[in-house]
Amino acid sequence: MRQKMMEKFEELFGGGGDIRAYFAPGRVNLIGEHTDYNGGHVFPCALTIGTYMLARKREDRVLRFYSMNFEKIGVIVSDLDDLSCKKEASWTNYPKGMMWTFEQRKHPITNGFDILIYGNIPNGSGLSSSASVEVVTGVMLRDMYGYDDLTMEDLALLGQYSENHFNGVNCGIMDQFAVAMGKKDCAIYLDTSDLSYEYAPIRLDGMKIVIACSNKKRGLGDSKYNERRAECEEALAELQKVTDIRTLGELDERAFEEVKDAIKDEVRQKRARHAVYENQRTKKAVEVLKAGDIQEFGRLMNASHVSLRDDYEVTGKELDTLVEAAWNIDGVIGSRMTGAGFGGCTVSIVRDDAVDRFIEEVGRTYLETIGYAADFYPVEIGDGAGIWKE
Ligand code: GLA
Repeated sequence: MRQKMMEKFEELFGGGGDIRAYFAPGRVNLIGEHTDYNGGHVFPCALTIGTYMLARKREDRVLRFYSMNFEKIGVIVSDLDDLSCKKEASWTNYPKGMMWTFEQRKHPITNGFDILIYGNIPNGSGLSSSASVEVVTGVMLRDMYGYDDLTMEDLALLGQYSENHFNGVNCGIMDQFAVAMGKKDCAIYLDTSDLSYEYAPIRLDGMKIVIACSNKKRGLGDSKYNERRAECEEALAELQKVTDIRTLGELDERAFEEVKDAIKDEVRQKRARHAVYENQRTKKAVEVLKAGDIQEFGRLMNASHVSLRDDYEVTGKELDTLVEAAWNIDGVIGSRMTGAGFGGCTVSIVRDDAVDRFIEEVGRTYLETIGYAADFYPVEIGDGAGIWKE
């Protein structure tokens, strides 16, 4: 791939100079959904698929971008003096957002760049292709300017800042954190209230993580996402009138049941219930995993989906069809939607001997029910972002 990317880079931008290579993965979240902006826990891991970037500094302030995934769009030209989010700038709003963020955070970007990227994360799948582009850009800028004061954690936070303030999506920290901090064969148990974390080895003897992509475009997803976040904030404000908490993540199930009537709207009460119960479920899931009880981990994954479906209402027919079909298959340990929802992917833990059957049967049910096909990817857990060593 590197060779092909290099050839394309030279064809488009000319050869020579200091062309450098970087990589940032995508991520999948095993459990802990819609908890990261509620002060709760998440349990994501980085994947071996992701975004590859070649970049070279320019003498002027021009930015030239090319994605091998959108060949029809061709080279997108911009300028460091015009770092604003524009619809027609398409995917380049992510790297431009990072440049803008570096500037905001007193890490000046003084030269333009020629940038070529290629990604093998399925598009709009909810496997964090945007966080991957943000973080790979952060790694590139840090390296090109020698900003060694920035840690990988800082780059994750800059990515989130960029997405919140440049792209206008009020996301939490999970995606950028997983992409930046991932570790091979481990999931990251992250407490989003203070960013403390530990790596938990995922030993799946005789099992695989299989991602099923619904191929439903997210569409209104981003605005719905912001809406859910606002509902949680409102519920929190109502609870704060009767109990001394900073986030929903501070409540356990019992404490929530005692104060929940302070939330005056039934829908908001359901949203808050999900945030509280999902956080507790995530803590239990990591405990049982450490104790080697993968069956119980799977049951908690299933319960997570039910809560996202009934209380948080972010699944939709496509994701429910994939998950409910998966639950019917012998050899499926657990299955749930992953990421923001409203389309995107499911994640399932499947016994090796059941993987083919899983793909065939879930695939058939999905096609019959929804009318178009889903895609399936058995995945491996990889390292976080960095220099792309050959
Ligand atoms: C998206 C956001 C994350 C997180 C998930 C839901 O992926 O970017 O911050 O909120 O949705 O868990």
